[in-house]
Amino acid sequence: MSKYSNLQIEVTDQIQTININRPEKLNALNIKTIEELKDCIQTAYDDGEVKGIIITGTGEKSFVAGADIKEIADLNEVNARKFSENGQEVFELIEKCPKPVIAVINGYALGGGMELALACHLRVASENAIMGLPEVTLGIIPGYGGTQRLSQLVGKGKAFELIMTGEKIDATEAFRLGLVNYVCKSIDLAKTKSTDILNKIFENAPLAISMTIDCINAAFLPDEDGYLIEANSFANCCTSEDFHEGTKAFLEKRKPNFKGK
Ligand code: COA
Repeated sequence: MSKYSNLQIEVTDQIQTININRPEKLNALNIKTIEELKDCIQTAYDDGEVKGIIITGTGEKSFVAGADIKEIADLNEVNARKFSENGQEVFELIEKCPKPVIAVINGYALGGGMELALACHLRVASENAIMGLPEVTLGIIPGYGGTQRLSQLVGKGKAFELIMTGEKIDATEAFRLGLVNYVCKSIDLAKTKSTDILNKIFENAPLAISMTIDCINAAFLPDEDGYLIEANSFANCCTSEDFHEGTKAFLEKRKPNFKGK
């Protein structure tokens, strides 16, 4: 029996798929789901069986249709701040995950759902994807990092437009804006594409991948010196066994056999 009520987890060939599983509520993120997501991602950090993660929503209609509006309706100033900080913390765990995380966006990715997708390293959408941050239509703003990550991904001007209008966009427009890496004809094809990308990443040195994640994230953190982190990470890579294996394999004209050490 699964330890989670609102997540369904599968691990195949070292890829963990996390299905947000509240289809009757279009997979809206209630507090319980956020807690479960936190536990699941934290566990995956250290799980030797997991090399990469796909996050998606159960069913064809929705990735995640936002934070649970029923719960939001009861928030006051004190618990609203906590609500936002809590979600931000979980999404930061995803963004900083040392293993690649891909959002497979099926149907609606709205509000907290779009913010969840934004926290992943890559996004692959199916043609039926509808994305947007409609929080202002409810009298709130995105509170799970959306104002920051959308600006980082599509630029300030488009982020202002999308968040202030609350407009929903389709997969073609999301691709045009650079909001999603790929658009596929169906959810199954989006999953296959994501698996192919992960398998391509798995051919490379795991330590170098996790350091790439740190360095690219640092480019968007005002208090971090990304160049310093890059130089330190580069130096760290050069002390790894995988670095010696990678360069040796090249010179010996064979495929490297990386160990993640
Ligand atoms: N929070 C809580 N429940 C939600 C939800 C959310 N974000 N989004 C959908 N649901 C629930 C609906 O209340 C409904 O539940 P019910 O059957 O018990 O009434 C069920 O999911 C199906 O949604 P419904 O609105 O009937 O489907 P639809 O196909 O007519 O519309 C949407 C789909 C996505 C356009 C619409 O559900 C919607 O606008 N959802 C809210 C999106 C949003 O504003 N998200 C940001 C929140 S911060």
